[in-house]
Amino acid sequence: MLKGKEIVLGVTGGIAVYKAVELLRLLVKAGADVHVVMTQSATEFVTPLTFQTLSKNPVHMELFNLISEERIGHISLAERADLFIVAPATANFIGKIACGLADDLLTTTVMATRAPVLIAPAMNVNMYHNPIYRENEERLKNHGYLFVPPVSGMLACGYEGEGKLQAPEAIFEEAVAALTVKSLAGERILVTAGPTLEEIDPVRYVSNHSSGKMGYALARQARLRGAEVTLVTGPTALAPPCGVNVVRVRSATEMRDAVFAALDETDIVIKAAAVADYRPKVRAGSKMKKIQESLTIELEKNPDILAELGAAKGGRLLVGFAAETQDLVRNATTKLNAKNLDLIVANDVSLEGAGFNVDTNIVKLLYRDGRVEELPMMGKEELAGVILERMELLRGKGTK
Ligand code: PMT
Repeated sequence: MLKGKEIVLGVTGGIAVYKAVELLRLLVKAGADVHVVMTQSATEFVTPLTFQTLSKNPVHMELFNLISEERIGHISLAERADLFIVAPATANFIGKIACGLADDLLTTTVMATRAPVLIAPAMNVNMYHNPIYRENEERLKNHGYLFVPPVSGMLACGYEGEGKLQAPEAIFEEAVAALTVKSLAGERILVTAGPTLEEIDPVRYVSNHSSGKMGYALARQARLRGAEVTLVTGPTALAPPCGVNVVRVRSATEMRDAVFAALDETDIVIKAAAVADYRPKVRAGSKMKKIQESLTIELEKNPDILAELGAAKGGRLLVGFAAETQDLVRNATTKLNAKNLDLIVANDVSLEGAGFNVDTNIVKLLYRDGRVEELPMMGKEELAGVILERMELLRGKGTK
């Protein structure tokens, strides 16, 4: 995901330095080449050797060693970076940058870079709310510096409140967002994901094997590309993607209501959810007793949300999925036309590595003009990126 990207990770002194180690590990795992710059006080908390071992690059601390560093030569860290992250960032560091001070290697390189700078503050709650700090943060934001706000919790100083460094995973996600071209900026995208549950009684239900992975990947990738994203999701075990407006539903009827409630503020709808086609005609008010030898439950049709969207779509782009086990292209084409879609993502869910509850998918993209684009097996995150690129093309924005 970050292959080929050079990231400078600045680490300033604070108890949260240990979390920067985990952040470094995530960045390296994603393929980034990370160069760590530590302030002197950061080295009091975790040794440079830890960062050096994980980054496989020398750790930089001394301002006047910069030029002599063999691998860097005359090209400074500041010029090479695609992204600068400072985590944890102290009030002192932020204050210096806000005042244009550069008195050590980290402040000097941050001041000298033209790369985006992502700052994750960590400090005492009273410092965080101090008006001087607030002014400094605002000033930097106005100059385009990006911030990952701290979270509330028990602070190392014994106080409780805002000031705790964000989780490494959340900072990582913002780093990926900072490095992603905002090709969907201005688009409002609604994604549905996961299964619906149709209750038989208070403890039993009819559902399917959807894990939500495909829909969550679409929501995450759309947000990384700058779209404003609403994720309407049936019950799943997944953590919602950062920066996405999440609406949780259970049944198909609830999903329909949530989708139509958001439709006026939506430009593109992507329906990856596996909506139950039928629901029990009667929901028992109390747990059904095991009295009879056999039991027949009468089912009635659920609303076809996508078909209703197709009838009401106006100028929106509408993307559906087709989960098939036979006659993939024929069945998916029928759905594309019947539901008035711009694109349908057809997956043969009987194939290994495709469909429900796996990390990969194998799909064919079917367009309104009859084109069929066959894609190889790929991770759902990667596939989400491809589907969104095709959306940009249909919008007349992207290039292929
Ligand atoms: O969640 P995962 O584990 O990652 O699995 C991914 C997936 C297999 C669920 C996904 O790739 C997929 O195929 N989603 C669509 C599943 C489905 O319901 O397919 P369908 O062919 O039955 O429905 C066609 C389309 O109509 C779908 O976009 C569906 O959301 C929509 N639909 C269906 C029935 C209904 N009552 N209302 C709908 O809106």
